[in-house]
Amino acid sequence: MDYSPVKGTHDVYGKDASAMEYISSVLKATAELYSYQEIIPPMLEYTEVFSRGTGESSDIVRKEMYTFMDKGDRSVTMRPEFTAGVVRAVVSNKLYANEDMPLKLYYCGPAFRYERPQLGRYRQFNQFGVEEIGLDSARADAECIIMAIQGLSMLGFDKLSLKINTIGDEDSRKKYKDALRAYFASKIDEMCDDCHERLKLNPMRILDCKVDHDQEIAKNAPKMKDYLSEASDKRFYETLSILNDLGVDYEIDDGLVRGLDYYSEVVFEVHALSKDGKDYGALLGGGHYSGLLKELGGPDLAGVGYAMGMERVQSLMSDNGLLDHLETGIDLYVMPVGEESLNDVFVLTEQVRQLGYSADTPLAALKMGAMFKKAEKKGAKFALILGQDELEKGIAQLKNLASKEQKEIKLDHLEEELDAAFEALPGHDEDDCHDEACHCHDHEEGK
Ligand code: HAM
Repeated sequence: MDYSPVKGTHDVYGKDASAMEYISSVLKATAELYSYQEIIPPMLEYTEVFSRGTGESSDIVRKEMYTFMDKGDRSVTMRPEFTAGVVRAVVSNKLYANEDMPLKLYYCGPAFRYERPQLGRYRQFNQFGVEEIGLDSARADAECIIMAIQGLSMLGFDKLSLKINTIGDEDSRKKYKDALRAYFASKIDEMCDDCHERLKLNPMRILDCKVDHDQEIAKNAPKMKDYLSEASDKRFYETLSILNDLGVDYEIDDGLVRGLDYYSEVVFEVHALSKDGKDYGALLGGGHYSGLLKELGGPDLAGVGYAMGMERVQSLMSDNGLLDHLETGIDLYVMPVGEESLNDVFVLTEQVRQLGYSADTPLAALKMGAMFKKAEKKGAKFALILGQDELEKGIAQLKNLASKEQKEIKLDHLEEELDAAFEALPGHDEDDCHDEACHCHDHEEGK
């Protein structure tokens, strides 16, 4: 029996778990700044949600879904992306009947794709994304794009590349697909088996083929921009003009078509390279869609959204030092001197936690050296040291583990003593202090 994790999945713990938590909290706060609300759809949907929603011609549906028959003999699928499931939830719960349209929803959680694992590509990964549903406008598209970039800026990214394109309305795409069929017809024999199928299902998918030789052929394929209807052309330039007004830099990438079937009109991706040139692929991708709600049994409403690969964002942040500021250590390690003080020190540690300071203590007797090693491993800022003698006198030694300074404190003034010690730490910022127990909040209203 092999007890290693399933290929393409990984266990997240320690600093990585804190980083994920931090990234999702910043992205959620950004979405809330734009008046988005959270939606938590199930990870499991009936397979038709994705085959009809994400689209039969997408690689995701053709090759990458974790699909199985449940015990009731219904085909179910672990979500490979959120959009189709979120739209299904909007339809199932008739959220579109909400007076406050457009609906502005954000989500965060795992998605599953049976892909070949490589740098920035996993079989279970996390997405943060948004869907704005019910308003068909260039302004909604621009708001979605600016919010996506804003989220990354809040995380500290300053060099991002926004690639944008339009794949036009249905009519434009029909003409474009005909042109692609004509172009690839004479070349398809030299192309991969997947492309044979793509040509039948949707020749636009050939443009996403990863095979080098096929990419060479696709380079000279007709371009979408030459088949755009006047309305789609106008709409695209309206979106770009709003981005110009907002001062957002972009690059028009006329090869960008995105691999999912629901898109129409504007599509976009944001890319970034790490300092040492590592390319994790697109950090996020999205676009406008129409027809998806109707396809899943709802009214004919349009939407726009994006999703971000959180592991890619995390790796890039870590490579660029953007996670270095995350504190993972505890406030205090409480050290019982001698076995007889273990119980009293255990109780005292609980009191320290009730004051709002994170704390730990050994649950069995340890030598001083071993306790200092543990405190260091846990990144404790202070050690609180006491044995039976000190307990009887109502005192303890408080040692700053960075400066090594040590002072005696009175246990019946524990709160004041700890507050004073933490306030005196270098870098303690009143505005940034989240510790409600700390004295630096005393000047706040009513205190
Ligand atoms: P997507 O381009 O398939 O779009 O995925 C969005 C992001 O998820 C990618 O840019 C990438 O960062 C991340 N991602 C995708 N696959 C993997 C993987 N195997 N491992 C790690 N990260 C991955 C969508 O999913 C659409 N639902 C986005 C959207 C929302 N469009 C409109 N609304």
